Amino acid sequence: MLVCKGLSKKYEDGHVALDKLNLSLPTKGIFALIGKNGAGKTTLTRILATELMPTSGKAYIDGMDVVKDVAKLRDKIAILPQESRAVQWLTPKQTVYSYLLYRGFGHKEAMERVDIALKELGVENYKDTLNRFLSGGMKRKILVATILASDANILFVDEPTTGLDPISRADLWKVLNKLKKDHFIFLTTHYLEEAEKLADMIGILDEGKILGLGTLEELRNKVKYQYSIRVLQKNFVLKSKVGTVIRGVDGSMQILTSAEDADRLSSKLIKDRIKFSINPTSLEDIFYYLVKKPIEEDTYES
Ligand SMILES: Nc1ncnc2c1ncn2[C@@H]1O[C@H](COP(=O)(O)OP(=O)(O)O)[C@@H](O)[C@H]1O
Ligand SMILES: [Mg+2]
Repeated sequence: MLVCKGLSKKYEDGHVALDKLNLSLPTKGIFALIGKNGAGKTTLTRILATELMPTSGKAYIDGMDVVKDVAKLRDKIAILPQESRAVQWLTPKQTVYSYLLYRGFGHKEAMERVDIALKELGVENYKDTLNRFLSGGMKRKILVATILASDANILFVDEPTTGLDPISRADLWKVLNKLKKDHFIFLTTHYLEEAEKLADMIGILDEGKILGLGTLEELRNKVKYQYSIRVLQKNFVLKSKVGTVIRGVDGSMQILTSAEDADRLSSKLIKDRIKFSINPTSLEDIFYYLVKKPIEEDTYES
């Protein structure tokens, strides 16, 4: 289990990045921590990865205190920090190898592990090419290979796909999805689609507080809106009270609504020949609802 109890971080300038945060989740599969820039994702990741001291509160990973059991914990975790870059003048092989030496592996075992990790990520053909000649997606994979090559089974990856093109991103998703079978992955991202596709468990962080935690279905139930109806017709006026309305920039109307209201409203829209689409509430809808608050929170009475 990963547990945080009243975890706070106040930086020297007085800025409160984590505010008495509580969290409890199993250390298996992929946990995605989502939140906009400045929410506190990196601060939390660094505290859990024993890189940063909390100001107050406690955090434990599988029973180990992130402040008191640092030595024991560091053997079990590896972190890919936000904005880490592969050293341009090293090859992938040298990159992974030097990380393993730094973690205390001997030459022979390190070399074996390098080969396995690069193969696992499908980059073995480029192992002797200088990193500077590799694509952005490939470089990011090399970094993932370094933490994978260690024997850590708890991996922290802080925004690993930020700035990558959609294809490289999807490629890295495959890697993370494969890794989760024998690792616990603590992933931060501001791509909601990424969390939706990959995560077994999602945490929504805003202003240093957890606003929601659970599977996508649990989060849907938390906001009590299981469906999202989008009416394409511009300037459509809703006459009955059905939930929360978000008006799109293009004039379309999105209605977050319960299953019962969705049933009622969709029948009526069909009867009135009004075009609409209906989908299960997405993580993006939930995120906007919890974090940004709807652009227009009107509910209409008939
Ligand atoms: N070293 C620091 N000193 C002061 N404030 C910081 C420091 N690092 C981060 N912050 C602030 O703490 C808040 C959380 O930052 P961060 O954890 O990096 O968020 P995220 O990773 O979600 O973007 C932000 O408002 C940021 O400006
Ligand atoms: Mg960050």
